[in-house]
Amino acid sequence: MIAAMAKNRVIGTGSGIPWDLPRDAYHFRTYTAGKFMLLGRKTFEEMEGWFTTQIPIVLTGKSDYKVENGHVADSVESGRDIAKEQGAPELVVSGGASVYEAALPLADQLVLTFVEEEIPGEVQFPDYEAEADWETLSELRLEADDENPYAMTFVILERCAQ
Ligand SMILES: NC(=O)c1ccc[n+]([C@@H]2O[C@H](COP(=O)([O-])OP(=O)(O)OC[C@H]3O[C@@H](n4cnc5c(N)ncnc54)[C@H](OP(=O)(O)O)[C@@H]3O)[C@@H](O)[C@H]2O)c1
Repeated sequence: MIAAMAKNRVIGTGSGIPWDLPRDAYHFRTYTAGKFMLLGRKTFEEMEGWFTTQIPIVLTGKSDYKVENGHVADSVESGRDIAKEQGAPELVVSGGASVYEAALPLADQLVLTFVEEEIPGEVQFPDYEAEADWETLSELRLEADDENPYAMTFVILERCAQ
C-alpha cells in the first residue's frame, strides 16, 4: 500500500488531498510507474487524467462501471486476482481510506510518507500499528523547502512474520 499521511493520520478531505507537496507527488508517480494500482472509485475519479504508465484496477459496487485502459473489481480479492492474471509482480493499493481499510490485512509492505504536521481532514489512514508489527526497510527524511511547505519522511515498512 502507498499513502501519504499527516501526524494525525489524515490522508484527505474526502474530495482531495489537503496539501501540495511536489516532492511527494514525484515519489508517488515514480513508485507506481508501470504498476497495477488498486483504487477506490472516488479516488480514481479524483485522479482523472493522472495515469500515464500506471494501470488502474478500480473498486466499485457499480456493475456497469467502465475504466479506460484499466480494470474494474468488486472486491479487494478480485482486484488482486486480476493483477495476478495479468502477471503483475506487485499490486499497489493506492487508497482512498475505505480501500486502505479493506486491503490492510492483505498488505505485505507499506510505502508511507509521513507529513510532519497535524492537518485537518475528514479521512484517515487505518491504524496499521494496531493491525500488525512492521519492520522498517528504509527511511529518508527531507526538510521543508520553498516548494514543499512541510518536512516529510519516506518509509518502507514490511509486515513482520507472526
Ligand atoms: N493521502 C493519500 O495518500 C491518499 C491516497 C488516496 C486517496 N486519498 C484521499 O482519500 C479520500 C477518498 O477516500 P474514500 O474512502 O472516501 O473513497 P475511496 O476509497 O477512494 O472510494 C470509495 C469507493 O470505492 C468503492 N469501494 C471501496 N471499497 C470497496 C470494496 N471493498 N469493494 C467494492 N467497492 C469498494 C466504493 O465505490 P462505489 O460507491 O462506486 O460502490 C466506494 O464508494 C479522498 O480525500 C482522497 O483524496 C488520499
